Amino acid sequence: MDVRVADEKDMHILEALSGDMELQRRIEEYFAPVDPSIILETVFLILEDEGEVVGKAELVIGEGEEEHLGYIRGVVIREDFRGQGGATTLMEEAERIAKEKGIRVLDLHVYADNEAALNLYQGLGFQTYHRELHMRKEI
Ligand SMILES: CC(C)(COP(=O)(O)OP(=O)(O)OC[C@H]1O[C@@H](n2cnc3c(N)ncnc32)[C@H](O)[C@@H]1OP(=O)(O)O)[C@@H](O)C(=O)NCCC(=O)NCCS
Repeated sequence: MDVRVADEKDMHILEALSGDMELQRRIEEYFAPVDPSIILETVFLILEDEGEVVGKAELVIGEGEEEHLGYIRGVVIREDFRGQGGATTLMEEAERIAKEKGIRVLDLHVYADNEAALNLYQGLGFQTYHRELHMRKEI
């Protein structure tokens, strides 16, 4: 499987892949240390298998207090291609590009019960940085 940076022609396939992740996307944007208002650049990465798009990830670069920050979001692999190292390949390429751009810290959010994603990120060296609880009271 190969990773490449997406262009405009890929937008429909990116949307199709991300459909079920829109809620997560909005949550991430809200809580992300990379405030959407100070996003400098987004790199869409596409994973292909024999020319077919089978996954995607986004690397967002934003202005931090002291240095530029990298934020990973929207990692998704087509269901029938999961468990074959695709997300790992995408993440490694995102990290390589981030480093090339001078980024020294990568952040991401993941639901605590998303075992596959948690294992993926932990395996790549990500560690829990901050915990918070979503609380609610019916009134
Ligand atoms: C999470 C996701 C991106 C993983 O993609 P993937 O290509 O299957 O991941 P990889 O094959 O690169 O696996 C890397 C590691 O992740 C973990 N992993 C992957 N699938 C797993 C599963 N079903 N259960 C437990 N761990 C899993 C393993 O530790 C694996 O390492 P290993 O192969 O050495 O055991 C994919 O399951 C997906 O698209 N899920 C839906 C979208 C999503 O939740 N995205 C993350 C949002 S934060």
